[in-house]
Amino acid sequence: MTPPRQKPSGEICEMFDSLVGVYDLLNRVLSLGCDRFWRARLVALCVRDGSERVLDLCCGTGDLAIAFAKKLNASASVHALDLSPAMIERMCRKLAREKLAPTVSVARGDAADTRLPDESFDIVACGFGLRNLPDRRAALREAARLLRPGGRLGILEFTRPDRASAFTRFYIRRVVPIIGRVFTRRRENPYRYLARTIADFASADELRDDLCEIGLKNVQYEINRMGVVALHTATK
Ligand SMILES: C[S@@+](CC[C@H](N)C(=O)[O-])C[C@H]1O[C@@H](n2cnc3c(N)ncnc32)[C@H](O)[C@@H]1O
Repeated sequence: MTPPRQKPSGEICEMFDSLVGVYDLLNRVLSLGCDRFWRARLVALCVRDGSERVLDLCCGTGDLAIAFAKKLNASASVHALDLSPAMIERMCRKLAREKLAPTVSVARGDAADTRLPDESFDIVACGFGLRNLPDRRAALREAARLLRPGGRLGILEFTRPDRASAFTRFYIRRVVPIIGRVFTRRRENPYRYLARTIADFASADELRDDLCEIGLKNVQYEINRMGVVALHTATK
């Protein structure tokens, strides 16, 4: 049997705590500036009238929650969850700077077991978080449980680069860990782990099938031009 390549949640949390100082910068550098565009696209596909109650799972330093808050109107709300205290602290500072603290609340919590009430959100979103969770189908069921009927799920995630060019696969496998090492200077390079989880994660078709299997409707996805980022949307 192949040993699981995913880290236990304590180690995941420690890894993201240690990355917080470089996380936003590395997102910009490694995505060649595209990560903001991908989050904006998710927001555009999920928001309808601007008054939605949004849940952002695995919120990290808050870029997706902030993108939602900027698009929504005053009656809307965004709640965000993450396991890493350092990521949450960084997010709180960004919310204060952007004066978004009244719209966005953030708490420490496990995306796979949120303990939030059934059907309490109009939109549930997760940006680059799902592949860190040990059981993605269980996490998707939890996300669906939290959606009201008719609510929308948006998942932005690296996808197994089956359709990517040889150059892109080389970039992920070899270049991302090197750039990560230069910036993080840790003996155990987190960006080697992150590159590996991309190669191990579901293809876009497999993730679409998961969403259909848990009973979501209108399941659709789009893949970016390089073939490495997929944006799935679905309705409950
Ligand atoms: C790659 S970051 C993505 C952050 C952010 N959503 C973004 O778009 O940049 C993944 C985040 O997932 C968080 N995470 C990992 N496992 C988690 C879990 N079980 N529950 C909640 N957050 C988790 C990590 O702490 C980290 O902040």
